[in-house]
This record gives sequence, structure tokens and C-alpha cells, in this order.
Amino acid sequence: MGPPIQTVRVATCASFLSGLLMASAAMAQPLGLPPVPIPPDNPQTPEKIALGDKLFNDKRFSSTGEVSCATCHDPNKAFTDSPLTVSEGINKLTGTRNSPTVINAAYSKLFFWDGRSLDMEDQAQHPIVNPVEMGLVNHDPVLQIVRTDPDYVARFKKVFDKQGEQITMKEVQQAIASFERTIIAGDSPWDRWYYGGDENAVNEQVKRGFNVFLTKGRCVSCHAIEQDYALFTDNRFHNIGVGVNRIQNEIPQFAPQFLTAKAAGTDVDKAVLTNPKVSELGRFAVTETLDEIGAFKTSTLRNVAVTAPFMHDGSLKTLRDVVEHYNNGGVTKKDDPVNDFLSGGIRPLNLTDDEISDLVAFMEALTSPQFAAQKAASANPVSCNVKTATVAASPAVETARAVSGGEGM
Ligand code: HEC
Ligand code: HEC
Repeated sequence: MGPPIQTVRVATCASFLSGLLMASAAMAQPLGLPPVPIPPDNPQTPEKIALGDKLFNDKRFSSTGEVSCATCHDPNKAFTDSPLTVSEGINKLTGTRNSPTVINAAYSKLFFWDGRSLDMEDQAQHPIVNPVEMGLVNHDPVLQIVRTDPDYVARFKKVFDKQGEQITMKEVQQAIASFERTIIAGDSPWDRWYYGGDENAVNEQVKRGFNVFLTKGRCVSCHAIEQDYALFTDNRFHNIGVGVNRIQNEIPQFAPQFLTAKAAGTDVDKAVLTNPKVSELGRFAVTETLDEIGAFKTSTLRNVAVTAPFMHDGSLKTLRDVVEHYNNGGVTKKDDPVNDFLSGGIRPLNLTDDEISDLVAFMEALTSPQFAAQKAASANPVSCNVKTATVAASPAVETARAVSGGEGM
């Protein structure tokens, strides 16, 4: 791709961030992340990425003309819809689940909290026809638009050399996935310390918190880190005791009922997002394996400081609440009974109050420079396009200095 972008004019928050992210994707790998896996049948090109960006932001692909992918994966909210507990789609209809960030989703092996989608291209077709998300009855209206809107016609011709009925959802999904593969962010203060060797990148509390993360907290057993990069996820599914208590007593009747409905053709994507009980079945709804009841995909921890609330159901409001949940051994209220399917890795931790604060400080140090401003904004809300008139080349490093300089972490 072209040379680093010198300056990025800020028109809107969205284009600012997309520009910034694409600029950084065009340059060196961000510190702390491996190369992005690109499927051989969907190579990245600048034009395809730009097309995907446009599709991701197109509200016409919803039944009301009001909802795009970016509604729930807003670049200005670290690609979530924070602070919503669960997402709101057309007509403010709510689903059952919290919007996960699209940042670094490109590294995922399976998609959605329960892994029901096998790749990023596949994932992109589902929200469009989910009744509580974009609400179209089928994909025809999308195809109608991309086959006739002159700008799309020109772009699909250039990117895929296709026009009219040659354009199918396959190309639409490929372009969206290509764009999403540029939404990559590492280079947090913790990366600059741990991988970059800068002792001053984080303070002593963060270093203590990282030690708790590795040892007494046992967090690293699922939120994995490697020798030269860290995704903070094992890409596996665990029941850590969130949400499943809502169906605990009904599981013996309810789980078989769901399997019968599924065998009779119930659409799993629609069922999990519209039926709160089905949602809590977790990975079981996909694999039908009993010990995966209430199991969900291990989240990344990158940028969690800007994506509250937490967990698949958005039920934990703060990072401190999260650590207390783990500290209690997988129950949100101390002394609640643990559920029958709890992962063997979850047990009471006996962390001290200081250790809890240290762990939280460590997670706060996982914020990438692109989103550090959002962290500041969520503590002290300001309108989003106040400060960033232009961004220099090498945006990651520059913004980091500009935003977190002097904070000591
Ligand atoms: C109404 C809000 C909403 C809209 C609109 C929406 N999403 Fe999502 N997205 C979610 C929620 C909620 C989940 C988690 C659902 C689940 O796991 O069952 C999710 C999950 C994802 C994931 C999986 C992330 C992971 O780590 O597994 C990706 C990728 C994604 N969405 C991309 C998109 C794209 C592309 C579009 C547009 C075509 C889109 N989303 C539209 C709310 C939304
Ligand atoms: C047994 C595996 C496992 C261990 C151990 C574990 N986690 Fe998790 N973590 C998960 C899974 C799975 C989820 C998603 C669960 C859900 O939504 O129901 C998660 C979610 C989270 C989230 C929410 C992220 C988000 O975006 O919503 C945070 C924060 C978190 N874990 C921090 C920690 C910390 C800190 C520790 C150590 C005290 C820890 N985890 C230990 C598996 C684990």
C-alpha cells in the first residue's frame, strides 16, 4: 500500500478513526500483535478495504434505514456500542447480547460469543437479516442497492470486476471482512513495557497487576499471551458463571427442548439473539455438547477500559466488578451457588483489595493509543471531534504521547 498518510483531516469521528486505523495497518505491525491472517481467496487491496468501510457504514442495509454495522460497532466507542448492556437494532429493539469489539476480531478463529460463525466473511451476512439487528427479511435489498447505486457499481467493477447480477453477497461479505481486517490495535502502554522494554511505559501498580494476572489471579490460563505477541484469548469457550444462573433450574427441560427445535429447523442466529434463555445456553446451542452449557468465547482484554459493560450479557458494569466476580469463584454475588457447568479453571482467588486494584490498573494499561482519547472521554465526557484536528504520520506513537503523556502509564 501507499506511503504513510501525512495528515488526516477530521470530518467525522468515524472517518477519523477509520483513516487512522487504515494508516496504521498500512505500516508496521503494531507492537504486541502478530501479522493479521488473510484468507488466500480474499486478498487485501486498498480499494476493497475502502469499499468494505462504506458497506460497514451503510444504513440502507437495514429495514428502517437507520442501522448500519457501525451503529453497534462504533469507531468512536472502540467499535462497540458502549455503554449499552445489550445492543439496540432497528426500532430500538434489543437483543440478548453485548456487542463485542471488532478491534482485533481478525485474529479470531470462530465468531460470535458462542462461535457459531466460522469466518469473518460468513459472520457479516447475519446481522443484516437478524430481526433485532438490521431487520431485513432477506439480502435482496442489499443486492439491489449495490447493483444500482452508481458509486457502488463503479467500486464493485474496480475491486471484483463484476457488475449487475454477478455481484452477490459473497463479494459484499468479502469487502466487509477486508475492512474489518484493518481494524487492528496493539501498542498499548503494557506492550511498550513488556514487548518494547520501556520501563517507564507503565507504573509500578500496572506491573504488580500483571504479576497477579500471571500468578494468583490465574487469568493468563485463558487470556493467553505469547512470547512475542498477546491476543489475550485462547480462542476457546468456558463457563465462568455469567448469566447461566438465569436458566440453571430449567436446563434439564429447556436444553432438550431447544435441541428439538433446532433439529426442526430453528435458526440458531435468530434464536440466540431473540430468546434470552437460548442465549444463556452459550456454546451448547452450537455444539450440543452438554459440558458447554453457559460457555462463551474468551474475550480479548485489549481496550476493555473503553468498552464497558462486560461479558456476553453486559451484566458486569466495571472492571472491578469483573475481578470481584472471579475472586468470588465465578459468582457475581458472594455466597451465591456456583452453576453445575462452571469451568474447572474458575475458583475463589482470595485476592486482597490492593491486588484487585492492581489487576484493574493492568487492564487499563491495555488501551491502544487510538482509543486512549476515548478512555479519557468516558471518564470526562466531551463531544468526540473536539480535539483531533490533524494527526501526524506514525499516528499510533504520536497519539499515544499526545494523549497519555504525563499520566505515567
Ligand atoms: C444491533 C447491533 C448490531 C449490528 C447492527 C451489527 N452487530 Fe455485529 N455484533 C453485535 C452483537 C450483539 C454481537 C454478538 C452476538 C453474539 O455473539 O451472539 C456482534 C458480533 C459481531 C462480530 C463477532 C466478533 C467476535 O469477536 O466474535 C463481528 C465481527 C461483527 N459483529 C461484525 C458486524 C458487521 C460486519 C455488521 C454489519 C453487517 C454488524 N456486526 C452489525 C451487534 C451488532
Ligand atoms: C477459565 C478461563 C478464564 C479465566 C481463568 C479468566 N477468564 Fe476472563 N473471560 C473468560 C471468558 C470465557 C469470558 C467471556 C465470558 C462471558 O461473557 O460469559 C471472559 C471475559 C472477561 C472479561 C470481559 C471482557 C469483555 O469485553 O466483556 C474480562 C475483563 C476478563 N475476562 C478478565 C479476566 C481476569 C482479570 C481474569 C483473572 C482474574 C480472568 N478474566 C480469568 C475466560 C476466563
